[in-house]
Amino acid sequence: MVLNRYNNTLDGEDLPGTYSFRIIDKDGEELWVQLNAVSIAWEERPATLNVLRDISPQKKLEVQLQQAQKMEAIGTLASGIAHHFNNVLMGIQGNASLMRLEIDSSYPHTEKLRNIEQYVQQGTELTKQLLGVAREGKYEVRPTDLNDIVNNSSQMFGRTKKEIKIHTRYQERIWIVEADQGQIQQALLNLYVNAWQAMPGGGELYLETENVILDENYVEPYHIEPGRYVKISVTDTGAGMDKQTLERIFDLFFTTQEMGRGTGLGLASVSGIIQNHGGHINVYSEKGHGTTFNIYLPVSETQIVEEKGAPNELQTGAETILLVDDEDMIITVASEMLRKLGYEIIVAKSGKEAIELCRAHRNAIDIIILDMIMPDISGEETYDRIREVMPEAKVLLSSGYSIIGQAKDMLERGCNGFIQKPFNMIRLSQKIREVLNKKEQ
Ligand SMILES: Nc1ncnc2c1ncn2[C@@H]1O[C@H](COP(=O)(O)OP(=O)(O)O)[C@@H](O)[C@H]1O
Ligand SMILES: [Mg+2]
Repeated sequence: MVLNRYNNTLDGEDLPGTYSFRIIDKDGEELWVQLNAVSIAWEERPATLNVLRDISPQKKLEVQLQQAQKMEAIGTLASGIAHHFNNVLMGIQGNASLMRLEIDSSYPHTEKLRNIEQYVQQGTELTKQLLGVAREGKYEVRPTDLNDIVNNSSQMFGRTKKEIKIHTRYQERIWIVEADQGQIQQALLNLYVNAWQAMPGGGELYLETENVILDENYVEPYHIEPGRYVKISVTDTGAGMDKQTLERIFDLFFTTQEMGRGTGLGLASVSGIIQNHGGHINVYSEKGHGTTFNIYLPVSETQIVEEKGAPNELQTGAETILLVDDEDMIITVASEMLRKLGYEIIVAKSGKEAIELCRAHRNAIDIIILDMIMPDISGEETYDRIREVMPEAKVLLSSGYSIIGQAKDMLERGCNGFIQKPFNMIRLSQKIREVLNKKEQ
């Protein structure tokens, strides 16, 4: 093409002087270049003067921009749906919990109710994947020991997948990272499930944690900060991948699984979650030789605080709760759940009503359960106004999803806890006690 144009220009044809094309350099790397050719006379013969410019960086930026715009659209879509979808799930979950509480376990429908709760759980997992893809859903960021997370998640996984042998090697005195533990757990489980699917006849899964320091040179291409990281590697002895598959695995909806088995959401969400934590993920694989995924998460300066595992049972109480939510469905199930637990309930269907009720009953209200996303006055603004009326109020935030960092902001500004919808009775009862029993700071 280039040669043709050159000859045609010399023959006097009037062609545009500037155009772009791809070349392959001597390392086999593909580059985009722009050629600017001007007709001149050279030693009295027609010739062209050519300036060749490497425009690969620009081309790369264009692709990145398109990708970013696509992610933004998906993010908006995912978070919009997640909020409503989680409210619906909350309604189903709540009613099923309540029914199960009212009948004894010999009743023939108990099993079906338990199934309903399990399906709700699957629905929740799906929205979590979507939020991961959209780089949202990072709510409870806490100093975290990744050895614990790897250990818990692999044990949970190993119990159901006996055909896979799990080997672990943990870094001693592992550095602490700031992480949403639920999300990291979700990311790891996605990697384990993929490994399991790549080893249909069983195989080995190697899990390793390591403290590493990434320097300027290493981090440059990935848009992350140089410094201390904790690395988690997940290696399987499965089918591996060829180069073409490897190039696409992080793409949304890319799957080589048959219909119904894979969604192609797994790795897209893993990569969203890791990036949202300021980290980085890479992969090594060869067809027939297994696969390694490496996750790098940045180290935090905070020290870890021991947390007691909550007992797995209902915790009751008799305090007065102000429940603030704009959805009737949520108000109905949640207030019935709370009454069953022994609490007195006051209901507000908007931020405005909540603030008025706080003025009227400031001495009677022990705890406020506040929805984050409401029309008119948002949960955030409601929170600020409640704080003006009741500076000491205990507030438990509840939401199906949050606009990036908003829940985290509010927790930093003194909100006492966060519970994600859909919640079941055990979780709700525990969260309330956790907030009520917390000592004043
Ligand atoms: N450990 C692995 N070994 C081999 N192939 C893998 C592995 N992990 C992921 N893949 C490939 O990447 C694709 C995308 O994975 P993922 O995003 O989790 O979607 P899904 O699992 O729903 O197909 C898989 O369909 C598979 O082809
Ligand atoms: Mg998968």
